[in-house]
Amino acid sequence: MKEQELIALLNDLSLEEKVMQLVQLPGVAYESGAAVTGLLNDTAKARTLRLAGSTLGIWGAEKLNRLQRQYMENHPHHIPLLMMLDVIHGHKTVFPCPLGQGATFDPELTEQAAAVQAREAAADGIHVTFSPMADLSRDARWGRVMESTGEDKYLNGRMAAAMVRGYQGEDLKSGASVAACVKHFAAYGAAEAGRDYQNTELSEHTLREQYLPAYQCGVEAGARLVMSSFNTWDGVPSSANPWLMQTVLRQEMGFDGVVISDWNAVGELVPHGIARDEKEAALLAMRAGIDIDMCSGCYEKHLQELVEEGKVSRDMLDAAVLRVLKLKNELGLFEDPFHGANPEKAQAVLGAGEHRALARKAAAEALVLLKNEKEALPLKGKKIAFIGPYADEKHLQSAWAISTDREDSVTVWQAAREAFGQDAELRCAPGCLMLAEGTTTSLEVFTCPDAEKENARLLSEAKAAAAWADTVVLCLGEHFMQTGESASRVDIGLPEPQKRLLNALKPDCKCLATLIFCGRPLTLKEECDLSDALMICWLPGTEGGHGIMDVLTGHEAPSGKLPMSFPRHVGQEPLHYDQYMTGRPRPREGIGSFTSHYLDCPNDALYPFGFGLTYTDFRVSEIRLSGEALSQTSELTAAVTLTNIGKYAGTAVLQLYIRDLVGSRVRPVKELKGFRRITLRPGEEKEVVFAITEPMLRFWTINRRMESEPGDFQVWIGLDSTTENTAFFTLTDKD
Ligand code: GLC
Repeated sequence: MKEQELIALLNDLSLEEKVMQLVQLPGVAYESGAAVTGLLNDTAKARTLRLAGSTLGIWGAEKLNRLQRQYMENHPHHIPLLMMLDVIHGHKTVFPCPLGQGATFDPELTEQAAAVQAREAAADGIHVTFSPMADLSRDARWGRVMESTGEDKYLNGRMAAAMVRGYQGEDLKSGASVAACVKHFAAYGAAEAGRDYQNTELSEHTLREQYLPAYQCGVEAGARLVMSSFNTWDGVPSSANPWLMQTVLRQEMGFDGVVISDWNAVGELVPHGIARDEKEAALLAMRAGIDIDMCSGCYEKHLQELVEEGKVSRDMLDAAVLRVLKLKNELGLFEDPFHGANPEKAQAVLGAGEHRALARKAAAEALVLLKNEKEALPLKGKKIAFIGPYADEKHLQSAWAISTDREDSVTVWQAAREAFGQDAELRCAPGCLMLAEGTTTSLEVFTCPDAEKENARLLSEAKAAAAWADTVVLCLGEHFMQTGESASRVDIGLPEPQKRLLNALKPDCKCLATLIFCGRPLTLKEECDLSDALMICWLPGTEGGHGIMDVLTGHEAPSGKLPMSFPRHVGQEPLHYDQYMTGRPRPREGIGSFTSHYLDCPNDALYPFGFGLTYTDFRVSEIRLSGEALSQTSELTAAVTLTNIGKYAGTAVLQLYIRDLVGSRVRPVKELKGFRRITLRPGEEKEVVFAITEPMLRFWTINRRMESEPGDFQVWIGLDSTTENTAFFTLTDKD
């Protein structure tokens, strides 16, 4: 439809029809089996969609096409419905959780993965996905770090842009694309004490310099929606914050798409204490620029009255409705309300072989090898025992993989039997229950009658297997419902039964390779000390078992790098590599009296951001700078020679960090400004060149704008954020 046709349609709509275009109802209100991903209120009571402009939480080509047909027949202007769903790391074929994708440091792979997710979701009738989640995540206590790509704004920005490109492709009208929704704007990851939905305490300086950049990358990549977050910033919830949603998002970032609230976030302005009642909440949200009210009912109940009372202008209403109509038009829904979806196409596309092959590659690339002594990996020896609650677990996806079939997953044990063949000497034993009796997950309280007796039975079976084996592969981890939304934890260690299993088995193990399944950094000091090899598998998705086995057998080499720092103790959280120095930095030696430190724990991470081993070894040469000074318009190159000095082929992730040594505001001790994945055969070497330009050095200065300041800078190039391979350069004020 042409714009003037859209405007003519808009002008022909009744006030009620306009208001209802801004109303989103949950599928659970009218469709059994719909996913519930938020607090249920009276909008979810059994009812019909009536004139609501969009819905969420249901999928299936036949079901959604039927729904669309009925809806349009009943609509006075036959406007198509928008179908939205959380496809954040997979629809039918599930990829590693986003934190695992962050560990790949491979935006190209993430873009391909997003394109597969879009192809599957679109074939199943979905038009919009609530992804990428671009929240900077520095606190491992917060359960939703699993949905982010980690603690670094540059990595998050590259990944968010890659997801947007993958989801939306070149043509939103194609039946293989969905519209992307950058979330949760803004700074949801800064929840105080890591407790979900809590207030954030950030200066505008930190908000702009650390938290906003990744959202901006998603917007600049062309995302058609942005979701307002639950949290407050500067004392105001995002869904009632015109400065954030209008001045920053629309005027400064140039976003011209649809702003949708998070689930019931408009209604929650009342418990926040910002709105006296739901009518005032609707007013504040409209003034903040919230176009679609997700599942709160405030717009449905009060917006028409607010317009009739003149509190919300008809222009403001029309502008919001036009943005929603434009989105439907960009998706081609006026020409094809089914967006190319049909059951036959879905049957052919969902779970396709090439999709699973990519998921297998992604699962392998996400793995982060933290320790590998006694050459424990790749696996050797004939007799291998796969022990632990994750050894044959199919729940390898996150709680957000709401539209997949977990039975499709390949477990570690299944993959082992395929990889080693039926005549191999393999054993499998769960060893213990996943969780301790009475553990609360975001879904339920875990109970098991006679847990103690069951654990004792499982342990004796596991000890026998461990004693028999040449190598034990111990598969441990947090329950998949211990991460994600509403899953904050103050203890980020492994569940007690699993810690007991590890200690009980250790004496029986000739060689112990421990795999950790998690959606967040965990405290793993004991696991590290007791294991010969330690590898982070995240929530690896449908092809998790195959991807892990490809690396355990040496068919693939591990290449993942930590996208979040792993702490020694939860008391260090929030922990991130790019901290500010302080006026009293802790000295390398001595007890550090009167300096910034803990009496009972080192300051640094157990495993730092950007760290990950491979099966080979790499040497990085000293940095060669193309000059000592960078002008405002020139480019400085920083080059190193990377050499594979080991005996296996491998992939290194070379990382470029920069520090502004003196600024009008304090500056982080270092910031990631570039990375490159380089694969080399044994003995092979390659020169790797990074370009440094003035825009890379900009920050939120005392002048309250993003700009660089002439002065001295330090640059590092290495294999993780602790590299000491460094050089210096100066930024001049000359052109
Ligand atoms: C949830 C989440 C958000 C999700 C939305 C729709 O509450 O906060 O990330 O996209 O509701 O399911």
